[in-house]
Amino acid sequence: MCGIVGAVAQRDVADILVEGLRRLEYRGYDSAGVAIIDNESQLKRIRRLGKVAELADALSLEPLTGGTGIAHTRWATHGEPSERNAHPHFSGDDIAVVHNGIIENHEILRNYLVQSGYEFTSDTDTEVIAHLIHHEMKSNGNLLDAVKRAVHQLDGAYGMMVVDRRDPSRAIAARSGSPLVVGLGIGENFIASDQLALLPVTRRFMFLEEGDVVEISRQSVQVYNAKGDKVEREISESSVEHDAGDKGKYRHFMLKEIHEQPDAINNTLEGRLNEKQIIEESFGPNAKELFNKTEAVQIIACGTSYHAGMVARYWFEEIAGIQCNVEIASEFRYRKSFVPKNCLFVTISQSGETADTLAALRLAKETGYMASLSICNVPGSSLVRESDLSFMTRAGAEIGVASTKAFTTQLIALLMLVTSIAKQKGLAKEQEAKIVKALKEVPNKINHVLQLSDDIEHLAEEFSEKHHSLFLGRGNQYPIAMEGALKLKEISYIHAEAYAAGELKHGPLALIDTDMPVVVVAPNNELLEKLKSNMEEVRARGGLLYVFADTHTKLSNSEGVKVMHLEDVPEVIAPIIYTVPLQLLSYYVAIIKGTDVDQPRNLAKSVTVE
Ligand code: F6R
Repeated sequence: MCGIVGAVAQRDVADILVEGLRRLEYRGYDSAGVAIIDNESQLKRIRRLGKVAELADALSLEPLTGGTGIAHTRWATHGEPSERNAHPHFSGDDIAVVHNGIIENHEILRNYLVQSGYEFTSDTDTEVIAHLIHHEMKSNGNLLDAVKRAVHQLDGAYGMMVVDRRDPSRAIAARSGSPLVVGLGIGENFIASDQLALLPVTRRFMFLEEGDVVEISRQSVQVYNAKGDKVEREISESSVEHDAGDKGKYRHFMLKEIHEQPDAINNTLEGRLNEKQIIEESFGPNAKELFNKTEAVQIIACGTSYHAGMVARYWFEEIAGIQCNVEIASEFRYRKSFVPKNCLFVTISQSGETADTLAALRLAKETGYMASLSICNVPGSSLVRESDLSFMTRAGAEIGVASTKAFTTQLIALLMLVTSIAKQKGLAKEQEAKIVKALKEVPNKINHVLQLSDDIEHLAEEFSEKHHSLFLGRGNQYPIAMEGALKLKEISYIHAEAYAAGELKHGPLALIDTDMPVVVVAPNNELLEKLKSNMEEVRARGGLLYVFADTHTKLSNSEGVKVMHLEDVPEVIAPIIYTVPLQLLSYYVAIIKGTDVDQPRNLAKSVTVE
């Protein structure tokens, strides 16, 4: 949440910073700002309410020059979205700060700083950091020392970057609970909250660790750990494609990412399957031994990733025959929970930086779980670094705020995990071979669903005037209904609820009328007849049904019932395939409604605050 980018270079950096913000905009987009130390050592700042494009327009009218600068795109936490609350925040004319995260003790610090004579011009917690650093510099004029002393007084989460106009040759950054990466150039260095921001200028990155403070100049990068000791952090070459931040031929990142799913899934599977088996080592060198000991699984995630975990629960108990609990991270972390014997703690996250999921992992490490495994899309992310084992989904950069390819690749990873554990519990070779065959079929099956795009676009027209909708599924399609409902509400702002179809008559049936479209996911499985009865219950009350069904279900169009047929798919992969028409449906409904598909209101990708 929020995006940071900064540079210390010899050339003018305004364009680099704005391009970086554009690439980070998916992290927050209510306001944006840039501050640059000009050639007369003055701090110059431009901030704008709204998107990065507004800031870019302002800069084209009033260009800022200088080689040292910081920039930020905001997702409001403290203080409404407005120009005065936009970052960078200043202390006097000297210090400028950009910050991601939340400072929990900001009120105490604010009172102390006001008593010390500081005047506040915003409602943000970030301004506290700027004044605190300024205050700390009074006793010793060194910015690095002042930042180190200031961060010890902060409670909460931060990724921050600071510059001082009196010394434009350096910038300081610090991370605790909010990711930062150093981009290494030749004769210039950069900081950002995501490497994506810096791909136009470098491919060499150094990921900071929790508690790190870093000083960058044009020629050097020096990292200090939480104890203040000088440390080396590994430098890695990014494999993220340079054009990952471009939409290519697509109108929106979301549509691009929906269409990328077959390739993304091929990447997830690449080198991890042989003809009839899953290669368990894909989960780490000692995975096999650990899976052998595993007697239960606890899955923790948020949002879409939580829905992936919900599907996995059905698979774990059916295929591997072991107990599996799934919980939302923000609930798990604040309750006392029972830890089953030899329980594997699995986190699922696209970003690997979701604050609640990370906090849950840290809690799990203290409470006796056997080992932790993360399923994640971002190598080097906090979750990956802090887990015992990790499995990268390799979906590629996901920019659309609504998660699509991250979800289907998570499902692939989870089915591989379930099968690997099941093998240790005696899964028959033929069963494993069947699952492997089905996994290999997924990309083609998704390609087939993508060909239904035009039909789904027509179907979407019937939703655009609605204010509410229900999504129904049974068994492992129930979480797919939940995911479909989440997609629709987050990008089209239509209220959508998902129900396990058997639960309808326990209350929600009262909502059914002609204004309440009901979307049903109906693959051909043993619950089909039960699902058909639930659909009858809806029809009998005048509800309109939109059904995604297998050709073999014999469901067809009738009054009040529209059926879209999908190819026959092996039952085990049906949740993955049936996700795709629901993604397309919400995309086209949002297009008709004219909402901001890639950056829906009030949201941001990568939720690094709790
Ligand atoms: C919805 C969506 C969110 C994320 C959630 C967790 O489309 O993207 O619900 O799934 O914020 O994020 P990660 O997976 O990064 O932990």
